[in-house]
Amino acid sequence: MTTIKDVAKLAGVAVSTASYALNGKSKVSSATQKKVEEAAKQLNYQKNGIASDLKKSQTKTIALILSNIASPFFSEITRGVQEITLQNGYDLIACSAAGGEESIAVKFLKEKRVDGAIVFTHTISNKVIMDSVREGFPIVVLDQCMESDSVINILIDNAHGGFLATEYLIKQNHKDIAFIGGPAESYDNQQRLEGFKEALTQYHLSYHPRWDIPGHFTQKGGYKATKMLIMQGDLPTAIFFANDEMAIGGMKALKEKGIGVPEDISVIGFDDILLSQYMNPPLTTIRQPEYDVGALAAHLVFQVLGGEKPNHFYKFDTELVVRESCKPLID
Ligand code: RIB
Repeated sequence: MTTIKDVAKLAGVAVSTASYALNGKSKVSSATQKKVEEAAKQLNYQKNGIASDLKKSQTKTIALILSNIASPFFSEITRGVQEITLQNGYDLIACSAAGGEESIAVKFLKEKRVDGAIVFTHTISNKVIMDSVREGFPIVVLDQCMESDSVINILIDNAHGGFLATEYLIKQNHKDIAFIGGPAESYDNQQRLEGFKEALTQYHLSYHPRWDIPGHFTQKGGYKATKMLIMQGDLPTAIFFANDEMAIGGMKALKEKGIGVPEDISVIGFDDILLSQYMNPPLTTIRQPEYDVGALAAHLVFQVLGGEKPNHFYKFDTELVVRESCKPLID
């Protein structure tokens, strides 16, 4: 059977050029178009309509692009996305965007290798996402706020969550509170820091830059940032970690130095990952509904694929979960 490769060879052009010419794309000159058509005629080439239609329209696969595929936080998000994706008869590819704009994840977005994408990473810029926008290709974005009709945003009320965490510590009489944060370019982190500062301001407390240390949203980062805090010598009485993974790393650093949680220092996290309740002491934290976020993201993808036009902004609330890692400060 004659293939497009044979046509391209006879016409003396690349396979992609022959394909453009036979599909009537304006990317080729009329001379090339004619040459390819003549070669196709000479070889009695028949386009395989079903195969090319399939290629054009569907991969039956959704991509879930995450900043750190190994993070326990993402397991619940993934569970939510996976359940809805499978229910719709689609496959799910979860990939890491840790390599930023060079990562394979960006290829999934830019080239039409999937039917839709859910993007939860601060390592891919808004520009790359906007460059990937195509008619009928749903993109749901988390941890980024994009004012565009072409993408759907799901946000968490991070600023309020940051405020709640800090206010809880303040109401327990803590005045010296450190913030161990995620990556500076993460929108979620920026909002949590804003909530932290807002609570300090409302309760007439000072923000101390020396107690604002980056921990990269990882256990290792939280561990290192806490060691740095301890090294500075003047410990605060409480720490707000901008996520639970960093709090877990931080608790290890404190324990190694014989600093008791919550006797000597109170610790609060953010996310309420599954592990937090099993810590010793169990971690007080701010809960966000990870499973629901993932499930909604996938639902929205399928709404767009089904021809619907859902809203472009969704925001989930956060709530305080009191466990045993914080203690009121007695003067
Ligand atoms: O990278 C994981 C972090 O990003 C989580 O803690 C979550 O809150 C999100 O913002």
